[in-house]
Amino acid sequence: MSDHKREMDEHSGVETTGHEWDGIKELDNPLPRWWLWVFYGSIAVAAVYWVLMPAWPGISGYTKGLLGQSDRAEVSRQLAALKAQRGAGEVKLRTASLQQIEQDPELQAYALQVGNSVFGDNCATCHGAGGGGRAGYPNLRDDVWLWGGSLEDIRHTIEVGVRAGHAQTRGETVMPAFGRDQMLDEPKVADLTEYVMAISGRKADGAAVERARQTFADQCAACHGPAGTGDAARGVPNLTDAEWLYGSDRKAIHDQIWNGRNGVMPTWGARFSPETIKALAVYIHANAGGADDTVAEAPAAPAAAGGAGR
Ligand code: HEC
Ligand code: HEC
Repeated sequence: MSDHKREMDEHSGVETTGHEWDGIKELDNPLPRWWLWVFYGSIAVAAVYWVLMPAWPGISGYTKGLLGQSDRAEVSRQLAALKAQRGAGEVKLRTASLQQIEQDPELQAYALQVGNSVFGDNCATCHGAGGGGRAGYPNLRDDVWLWGGSLEDIRHTIEVGVRAGHAQTRGETVMPAFGRDQMLDEPKVADLTEYVMAISGRKADGAAVERARQTFADQCAACHGPAGTGDAARGVPNLTDAEWLYGSDRKAIHDQIWNGRNGVMPTWGARFSPETIKALAVYIHANAGGADDTVAEAPAAPAAAGGAGR
């Protein structure tokens, strides 16, 4: 910007910088005052910040600042506090029996909170949000149980799973695929479907029911019981109630007799601490109404279309 190039702009009376592009000249206006103050202010704030807060990286470490602020230290402090708080709850869960947990309101509240969050992360994918269940995955909110509904039954189911090859399996039965594996032909399976409709209190073809009576006694009663009421000790469902794991209509029942699906529930004993499994059992037991009956409910009023899922 040499002096000899400086000149006044005729229109504005402002000196130019001497820069010119295609006949357009740059005016040498001073920077606005407010802008300058903000600019100097920012520099001042930065300088104060460098002194007070961690700022400059060095070869081994960084300038710590006079305030000694450290987000990492803050997080560690909060984590330690949380752990101490949890630790107390964990110890209580470990030593208390399932019944004691349910009877101590404070401990129960803690167990419910742990159970709720673990359930959301690990169980809801299969059992649905809140444990409402869907076809093939039992409803955990009602008081109808394949494997028993006492606190200890529920805890045990969570620990060992179902048909998941755990060493402590409770003699899990596997329903055969009667149709697919050609143990029974289509007319027999159709008759049995009518039979199951009848014992669950619904309209059925009387002649078919009579034809199926002997087949049921021969092929099904060993697991489902002579009256079809199931066996909670072996996870065999009651066929006389309104609760269905795989659906309540003719097609769903025919499908199950033909294909013999068998639900698999993972084992959790190796994944969770005993305390966490206790908390889950307390959570599920409370959600299901908390009753202690291990027997599936008495034959319910016939519902033309009961819901899927137990
Ligand atoms: C991969 C899917 C899957 C996941 C994940 C899963 N379950 Fe299950 N669960 C099942 C199936 C399938 C059954 C039914 C097994 C059967 O047919 O007997 C079942 C059965 C149960 C039962 C017994 C219900 C009854 O009627 O007796 C309980 C209790 C249970 N699950 C709790 C849990 C908990 C708690 C978790 C999470 C820690 C969990 N499940 C995660 C699939 C799953
Ligand atoms: C070896 C034992 C066994 C035999 C034999 C057996 N079942 Fe099953 N059955 C089961 C089990 C276990 C289940 C539950 C499967 C599961 O939990 O996934 C079941 C489920 C069912 C269901 C579905 C129930 C629901 O809630 O959705 C029907 C229907 C059924 N059985 C009918 C029959 C009929 C009819 C026969 C005879 C032809 C028969 N079963 C023979 C063990 C057996």
